[in-house]
Amino acid sequence: MTRKIWVFDTTLRDGEQVPGAKLNMYEKLEVAKQLKKLQVDVIEAGFPSSSIGDFNAVKEIALNVGNTDDVMITALARAVKSDIEAVYNSVKYAKNPLIHIVLGTSDIHVEKKFGKTKSQILDIGVEAVKFAKTLLPNVQYSTEDASRSDFEYLWSTIEAVVHAGATIINVPDTVGYAEPEEFGELIRKINERLKNLNEHVLLSVHCHNDLGMATANTLAAIKNGADKVECTINGIGERAGNAALEEVVMAINTRPSIYGAYTNINTKEIMNTSRLVSNFMGLDVQVNKAITGENAFAHSSGIHQDGLLKSRSAYEIINPTEVGLDDMELVLTARSGRHAVKNALEKLGFNQFTSDQFEGIFDNFLELADVKKEIYNHDLYVIVESYYTKNN
Ligand code: KIV
Ligand code: ZN
Repeated sequence: MTRKIWVFDTTLRDGEQVPGAKLNMYEKLEVAKQLKKLQVDVIEAGFPSSSIGDFNAVKEIALNVGNTDDVMITALARAVKSDIEAVYNSVKYAKNPLIHIVLGTSDIHVEKKFGKTKSQILDIGVEAVKFAKTLLPNVQYSTEDASRSDFEYLWSTIEAVVHAGATIINVPDTVGYAEPEEFGELIRKINERLKNLNEHVLLSVHCHNDLGMATANTLAAIKNGADKVECTINGIGERAGNAALEEVVMAINTRPSIYGAYTNINTKEIMNTSRLVSNFMGLDVQVNKAITGENAFAHSSGIHQDGLLKSRSAYEIINPTEVGLDDMELVLTARSGRHAVKNALEKLGFNQFTSDQFEGIFDNFLELADVKKEIYNHDLYVIVESYYTKNN
């Protein structure tokens, strides 16, 4: 049985917290429009109480991007009245607005960050949700640092805020501390107890990448009952970043029998979105980054190129056109074999060579590749031309 996984994009909130990645209003609107084309279910547009600029950007996104039913617009509030009001006053222009409240549940947050008792923090959370519910029907509650919290206290917080009216419970691995089996087990336990409450609540996760496990933890959560995932484009975000939307979505798409789930994402818009975010934020994508890195679909070894040309499935698990790229890319280097070079020449229209001619051209190719490393189409033209000049 397949179930829908909601995709919540926080590129404009958690992602924009990256030093040097601040966007202006025009850029934020363009990113939000592109996220809508990508068909994310929820756009977290900012943190309105942080500045008037952020407030105005969230409001513009609510008005111009949240004007249809297919996307929910939200923004972040701490569990204080003024923050919640700022969120309400900026997202209320959307057709489908959501208030997102965050408050820590770990001992470190409760005692060290807030200097309060657990029951005081729990009461603050409940009051915040009750207040938000007087403004909007949809309220998400994030139990910050959930993965380092005492489970029974975490659960009593979840139970209390659900009774107060929270419609989405978000379980963050705020500092990227969890590992997949452990995080999956945490989600399984919460999911089981939530079911017993018999309330209609979505269970969500928000994973950071400090130990490189944000995607793995998010996927483990889906296997254990999470209904919604919070992600950013290219995995940008605080410190080592957040779970990368493109990785989570393509993992679900590529291995449907493992996850038994689907998303609404239009995967053909993944590369456009990745490039837009990278250019606006001035954050280069690591070349070997899964799905959106420049080399993610580029094959350079001769053995692989030969195998791919015989059967794509030999070395390709995702057709690049599925994420909006043109097609498979073979990078010609000195390690490329005859098959790959012949294929590249044929694509340029050179398909009449005798085998002797091809051998001569291939020798010239190897000679140039040894000094130049990568051989592009314009190099192939030069190789062919100089072969003819020498041999005619
Ligand atoms: O990392 C975190 O805990 C957050 C919350 C606001 C969800 O970003
Ligand atoms: Zn976060």
